[in-house]
Amino acid sequence: MEQGLALHHIGVRFGGLTALDDVSLRVPPGRVVGVIGPNGAGKTTLFNVICGFITPDSGSLTLDGRPLRPRPHRLTRLGIARTLQGTGLFAGLTVLENVMAGATHTARAGFLPALLGLPRSDRDEERLRREALDVLDGLGIAGHADAAPGTLPFAVRQRVALARALAARPRLLLLDEPAGGLGAEDIAELAELIRRLPRRETDPCAVLLVEHHMDLVMAVCDEIVVLDFGRVIAAGTPDDVRDDPAVTDAYLGAEVDEAAA
Ligand SMILES: Nc1ncnc2c1ncn2[C@@H]1O[C@H](COP(=O)(O)OP(=O)(O)OP(=O)(O)O)[C@@H](O)[C@H]1O
Ligand SMILES: [Mg+2]
Repeated sequence: MEQGLALHHIGVRFGGLTALDDVSLRVPPGRVVGVIGPNGAGKTTLFNVICGFITPDSGSLTLDGRPLRPRPHRLTRLGIARTLQGTGLFAGLTVLENVMAGATHTARAGFLPALLGLPRSDRDEERLRREALDVLDGLGIAGHADAAPGTLPFAVRQRVALARALAARPRLLLLDEPAGGLGAEDIAELAELIRRLPRRETDPCAVLLVEHHMDLVMAVCDEIVVLDFGRVIAAGTPDDVRDDPAVTDAYLGAEVDEAAA
């Protein structure tokens, strides 16, 4: 049986425009897979297909070999978590509460009802609190547990968003442009964190990383899929992809143009 997430011949059209054309890729357990490509290549569309925001016009998805029809509200139950572009944190909750909210589906009574003052299980809430603190600790930001997200630097908020996604204990984490808005040093630290996820002892989780930022993708990915105009033009290890003339033409060529402009 094919373990992990797989996309088979996915096609998406927007009116007359083909955003994705016959795209196949796999994210097996234990791997970090990257999707890169120039502007308009179809990266966000691909991400949205996996999250269930877009239903493909053709092709199919499978999870552990079984048909997968993703719906945004069902993702966590399938063991899939994602971060949103921007951080999407609740401004009225502390950092710790935000991370606890990410784990609600693991609690019997639910944490949101608790926040709303509805009957709840204190034991569930205590467990969520402990687990959320562990996740924050693992990302080196437990010291900010009681802070309001709005008071923290962007790089820390990004990490809180990552903690919230990980609190759901996913086996697959989807990251959309996580390096956006980060400086070089923060990107290097983020790379370290991402690379560890599939290989860690507790709650290991595969990663699909959609990212424009070449350095991050090259640093953390086991495999890279390169999109251009909705098609897969190259796939392989970072070294394979770096040396592929099609990629140099499409992706690096576009970057050179941008730099020259
Ligand atoms: N909702 C939509 N309606 C119509 N066209 C769309 C829609 N979403 C995306 N597109 C088009 O589909 C193509 C792929 O867009 P997509 O956003 O997936 O690219 P991308 O690789 O994420 O680009 P970027 O690097 O700029 O984020 C583009 O030509 C885009 O203009
Ligand atoms: Mg995009």
